[in-house]
Amino acid sequence: MRHKNQTLGEFIIENQEEFKYSSGELSRLINSIRLAAKVVNHEVNKAGLVDILGAAGETNVQGESQQKLDVYANEAFIKTLTNREIVCGIASEEEDHFITIKGRNQNNDNKYVVLIDPLDGSSNIDVNVSVGTIFSIYRRVTPSGTPVTLEDFLQPGNKQVAAGYIIYGTSTMIVYTTGHGVNGFTLNPAIGTYYHSHPNMQFPEDGTIYSVNEGNYVHFPQGVKDYIKYCQREEGDRPYTSRYIGSLVSDFHRNMIKGGIYIYPNTAKNPDGKLRLLYECNPMAFIAEQAGGLASNGFTRILDIQPTELHQRVPFICGSRNMVLKAEEFMQNA
Ligand code: AHG
Ligand code: MN
Ligand code: MN
Repeated sequence: MRHKNQTLGEFIIENQEEFKYSSGELSRLINSIRLAAKVVNHEVNKAGLVDILGAAGETNVQGESQQKLDVYANEAFIKTLTNREIVCGIASEEEDHFITIKGRNQNNDNKYVVLIDPLDGSSNIDVNVSVGTIFSIYRRVTPSGTPVTLEDFLQPGNKQVAAGYIIYGTSTMIVYTTGHGVNGFTLNPAIGTYYHSHPNMQFPEDGTIYSVNEGNYVHFPQGVKDYIKYCQREEGDRPYTSRYIGSLVSDFHRNMIKGGIYIYPNTAKNPDGKLRLLYECNPMAFIAEQAGGLASNGFTRILDIQPTELHQRVPFICGSRNMVLKAEEFMQNA
């Protein structure tokens, strides 16, 4: 149920019983992400002042050493998540190896692993364009009381218990799912509170926007080339509109609201695509499906892919249901 002016904190408490394992821990975990998101938001908003406050690697006038924003975001999320007795391990796009968290009593009995892309679309920072954070949460599969292993992180996306993103845009929003639909919350920066602004978000079944880095066109597989030509053909509601921000979170967010498809195919330079299965594709695929959309590599459902390594990449096609089905048709018939 949605109340007028309901906050994220109230929403989490009210919907706690919907969680599959309703011990309150997952609620507390989402809560700590909410907190880290505020910290990172504050820093992201100051990015334009970098020439005044000092660039990465320099020391600013207050004597604080300046960090790159992706490093800052990575540390902010890891620190916040480590300080709770909920998470037993974190894997991050910014770290070579996963991090083991023993918990406050050193017993290794925390239940959840978190996988994050702390700052998505980082090349947009210098030009004042939206960036994001993506997170994905699983229950560990190895026994409680033992340190986490790689196996806990290499679970297929269909095992996610929650996933979401934060978009640092014209407004800052948290959008997430625990497997009961997708909800969006907008930050009121004046008082630091997120409000339930976007209940039960849904991808329109059809859309008229396609998002792909067309500069790589000549390197795309034939199926993607054929689909792009289809998008551009004059017929019915086509040609579609092309929109590409270069930050997955922002492109996805727009497509979910307006109806559209996002494609990052494999290319000669990136034979497995560019996007990371665990930090980017799985969480976005979970959100997409929970919002009535689809996510595929052109042949297989993203959420059913068995990961084999932490930083694995995968071609990614995601968005409005009928658009993804159409793109798959072109891929499979090429
Ligand atoms: P990140 O900033 O985390 O490395 O991710 C960037 C990703 C994704 O967000 C974006 O859609 C894509 O890379 C853009 O890649 P191209 O510049 O190759 O289009
Ligand atoms: Mn990214
Ligand atoms: Mn990143």
